[in-house]
Amino acid sequence: MNKIAVFASGNGSNFEAIVQESLKKDSTYQVVLLVCDHLDAYVTVRACKHNIPVFAFDPKNYADKQSYEQLIVNMCRSYGVQFIALAGYMRLLEKTLLNAYQNKIINIHPSLLPAFKGKNAIEQAIEYGVKVIGVSIHYVNLEMDAGEIIAQECFSTVGLKKEDIEIKIHQIEHQMYPQIINKLLKGEKNEKSVG
Ligand code: GRF
Repeated sequence: MNKIAVFASGNGSNFEAIVQESLKKDSTYQVVLLVCDHLDAYVTVRACKHNIPVFAFDPKNYADKQSYEQLIVNMCRSYGVQFIALAGYMRLLEKTLLNAYQNKIINIHPSLLPAFKGKNAIEQAIEYGVKVIGVSIHYVNLEMDAGEIIAQECFSTVGLKKEDIEIKIHQIEHQMYPQIINKLLKGEKNEKSVG
């Protein structure tokens, strides 16, 4: 059984979906740690409900990013973490984490990358007037939302209100992210799918 950590900063609906999938019989992974950079984020409540250990920290309490990333690496190692899924973790990673978990850190982003990187991606895409919108899962590197794309799913926005689009994006995320994690951990070939 692969041991994974999820990093999140806020609500944690993707964290919840990843955990729910891990409880199924044929899951390849177990979530052994939540890392959260906001002490009062709702995702920490979700983790407690599932008895998943939480490392919650306030970056302001550390001299620099390297210091808290080293602590995170130590924490991950102490729980035997082999793979990391960022799920709404609102911080760029630096070398301390990236070198410790090379090619083992992925992220989910609510746009068809490389379009609409960064915050408020759904709003950015709607304001731009896109006719097709979607979700990307990618490897994490030093740049924001810029690592190699692993999988994408998309749908037409025509006739949909902003609220409908947001709901659909999250539905896709919740189904897609656990599936891709399972596939990667099974060693199956990466997918780049559209449709
Ligand atoms: C998701 O839309 C994800 O794609 C993005 O941040 C959001 C997190 O939502 N990276 P939640 O906290 O999982 O509900």
